[in-house]
Amino acid sequence: MKQIEKVIDEKIQGKALITEQKEGNTKKLFIESYGCQMNMNDSEIVAAILDKEGYNTTQILEEADLVLVNTCSIREKAETTVRKRLQKYNAVKKVNPTMKVGVLGCMAERLKEKFLEEEKIVDLVVGPDAYRDLPNLLAEVNEGREAVNVILSKDETYGDVSPVRLNSNGVSAFVSITRGCDNMCTFCVVPFTRGRERSRDPKSILQEVQEMVDKNFKEITLLGQNVDSYLWFGGGLKKDFKKASEMAQATAVDFSQLLDMCATEFPKIRFRFSTSNPQDMSLDVIHTMAKHKNICKYLHLPVQSGSNKILKAMNRQHTREEYMELVDNIFKIIPEMSLSQDMIAGFCGETEEDHQDTLKLLEYVKYDFGFMFTYSERPGTLAGKKMEDDVPFDTKKRRLQELIDLQLKHSLYRTQQHLGKVEEVLIEGTSKKDPNQWKGRNTQNTVIVFPKEHYKMGDFVNVKVEDCTSATLKGTAVGYSDNN
Ligand code: SAH
Ligand code: F3S
Repeated sequence: MKQIEKVIDEKIQGKALITEQKEGNTKKLFIESYGCQMNMNDSEIVAAILDKEGYNTTQILEEADLVLVNTCSIREKAETTVRKRLQKYNAVKKVNPTMKVGVLGCMAERLKEKFLEEEKIVDLVVGPDAYRDLPNLLAEVNEGREAVNVILSKDETYGDVSPVRLNSNGVSAFVSITRGCDNMCTFCVVPFTRGRERSRDPKSILQEVQEMVDKNFKEITLLGQNVDSYLWFGGGLKKDFKKASEMAQATAVDFSQLLDMCATEFPKIRFRFSTSNPQDMSLDVIHTMAKHKNICKYLHLPVQSGSNKILKAMNRQHTREEYMELVDNIFKIIPEMSLSQDMIAGFCGETEEDHQDTLKLLEYVKYDFGFMFTYSERPGTLAGKKMEDDVPFDTKKRRLQELIDLQLKHSLYRTQQHLGKVEEVLIEGTSKKDPNQWKGRNTQNTVIVFPKEHYKMGDFVNVKVEDCTSATLKGTAVGYSDNN
C-alpha cells in the first residue's frame, strides 16, 4: 500500500531543480515542477530558454530573482498542492520584494488571467505552448506590468530547443516526441490545457538523442500523452494529416518506424516510451520492440476501467474485450513483457458491478504495477459539464483501496517471477535505504537493488535476483553485461 501511494506522490510532487551553472549568468531561477514527466521535460526546455537570458537555476528559493512553478491540473489535489506552494512563495516575497513569480503549465492554461486575480502574488502566467515568449513576457514584468500568454499552438514542438537537464542522474533522460492530445476522454483536462496533438520532426528527435549519447546518457524515454499516435508528415496538427500532400502522406513516419529508427541508430542506448493509449497501440510497435534488444520490454497501457459501460462514458475508443485481446496479443509476441495501468475509481455512474468488472480485468492481466486514482471532476471537461459526479467519496475511496490491494498482490506475483534469474540492470543511483547499494531497473522497469562493489553509475550489470518485495527486487551483481 505504502509503496504504491509513494509512487503516486512522486508523480505529483514538485522538486526544486538544479543544473550546471553557466559562467556569466547572473540571475537566479528557482523552478519547480508538478505532474507528469512531460512537465518535467518542459521545465528543462524553459531552463534552456532562460539560460540564454542570463539565468542559472538555484535550489534556494530565498535567493531567486525569478520563481517559476510548472503546474498540473489533472486532479483537484494537484491544483491544491500548487496553491499551497504559492502561499510559501508569498511569504518569501515579503522578505525579497523584487522576486518575480510565474505560473507555467496546465493550471496557467486552464485559469489564464484569472490567476492574477485569484493569486495576487503571481506576475506571470504562461501556457505550455508559449515558453518561447518568456523573454518578452519577462521584459514586461520587469517594467512593472503583469504578463500573460496562454495561446495554444498548431505546430510548436520546441524541436530545436536542447533542454537543459535538471535534477539529472546523468544516466537517463526524457525526450518529448509529441505534444497535446486529440482523444477527448470525458474526464480529462489535458486536451484543453495542452491543445491538439502534434508530432515532432524525427530528425530533431534523433539529434537530441545524439546529444544525450555524446553526454554519456544510457537510457532515453520517448514522451508524449499518447506516443503511439505519433505521426510526422512535415509538421502541423495530426488532424490535418488527410489534408497533407500525397508526397507528405507517403513519406510519413509513424511511431513504430520512429522507434525502429532510434533503436537501430543507437544500439547501445536503452529506449523506453510513455504513454501508450490502447486505442492507438498497433502490433507493429510490439513487433519493433521484439526486434530490438535495446527497446525495454515494458508498456504503460492505461485502461481506466474494466466496464464497457464506463469505458463508453469515458469516451475511450475500445471495449474491455478489445483491450483483453490486445493484451493477449502482446504476451504472444513478447511473453516477458511487463505491463502497468492507470485506473480511475468511482467515475460518474460507476456501480458495484462496474467496479467488479475492473477488479476482474486486473485479475486477468495481472499488471506489474499501476497508478490508481479516485475520480476528480475537472471543470470544462465533458464529464464535468454533462455528467453527475454521483459516487460518494467514501465509496470511491473504498473501491480505490480494493484496486490497490489487488494490484499489490499482482505486483508481488510479478516480482516473484524474477527470482533466481540473472537480469541486465542499468545503474541509475544509490539506493535510498542503503548507501552501500546501487539502484537500477531491469528491462521490465522493475527496480533492483544490489551491493555496489566496484560498479559505477551508468554501468550495465548482470544481477542475480535473490529476493523481492512487491515493489523491489534484491540481488547480487555477477558481472558486466555485454552492453557496456
Ligand atoms: N495520456 C496520458 C494521460 C495523462 S493523465 C496517459 O495515459 O498517461 C494520467 C492519468 O491520470 C490518466 O491515465 C488517468 O488515469 C488519470 N486521470 C486523468 N484525469 C483524471 C481525473 N479527472 N480524475 C482522476 N484521475 C484522472
Ligand atoms: Fe487525457 Fe485521454 Fe488524452 S486520458 S491525455 S484525453 S488519451
